[in-house]
Amino acid sequence: MERVKTGVEGLDGMLDGGVPKGATFVVMGSFGTGKTTFGLQFLNQGLAQGEKGIYISLEEDQESILADAAAHAWDLKPYIDGQKLAVIKLEPNDAKSTIVRIKSELPDFIKGFGASRIVIDSISLLNMLFETDHERRTNMFNLSQMIKKVGVTCLMTAEVKDENPLASRDGLVEYVSDGVISLRYEEKHEKNELQLSLRIIKMRRTSHSRHITPYQITNKGIVVHEGVEML
Ligand SMILES: Nc1ncnc2c1ncn2[C@@H]1O[C@H](COP(=O)(O)OP(=O)(O)OP(=O)(O)O)[C@@H](O)[C@H]1O
Ligand SMILES: [Mg+2]
Repeated sequence: MERVKTGVEGLDGMLDGGVPKGATFVVMGSFGTGKTTFGLQFLNQGLAQGEKGIYISLEEDQESILADAAAHAWDLKPYIDGQKLAVIKLEPNDAKSTIVRIKSELPDFIKGFGASRIVIDSISLLNMLFETDHERRTNMFNLSQMIKKVGVTCLMTAEVKDENPLASRDGLVEYVSDGVISLRYEEKHEKNELQLSLRIIKMRRTSHSRHITPYQITNKGIVVHEGVEML
């Protein structure tokens, strides 16, 4: 099976080489756990290999996303200028017209752009555009079917439930996705610090690690300390 390298140091080994090509996977975690960083790192890896990528944002505009990337020394501007990277900002406050864009414009754009990687940051905000669970479910099903058909590998970020950091806020995306990676904080009172830990909860068609593995967010992006036990 062809695998797509995430570009996250230490993680591809835990995924038997990477995520299956064409898979849809979710990176979930609470605020500040590095979801956006992960998404940018995933796109940057593809761009550096000569692939095209699409970043769909519901929070930050293009300028802010480029600044996030620059904090990790990824210069994405040339890729935008060279039409290798497209940043699409969807407006979460204007549900009606955004839903129209998602249903009409977006599928054509994704089909036409020729991207091999796509990031949706975040699917939680996208889902909030819809009023009922039924609409959310239908939209997510249609979106993931369309992405699967195009054959693009898709990373979605998701916020988590306050009471359960292993479940997404709307509890839908983890079932629709081929893979779930959880990012979270662990309180280490004895060391007086918050440690970050990563878990691969599922990845279809992959013999993956189930270790709770420490990671750091550095100026080169996310570094997963594969093989290192949590202290
Ligand atoms: N250059 C850097 N070096 C080290 N750590 C950094 C650097 N840039 C950002 N960080 C860390 O990464 C965190 C932000 O990560 P990121 O924006 O990817 O998280 P997020 O999960 O997307 O958060 P949110 O839910 O708020 O969107 C910062 O709060 C900071 O702790
Ligand atoms: Mg973010």
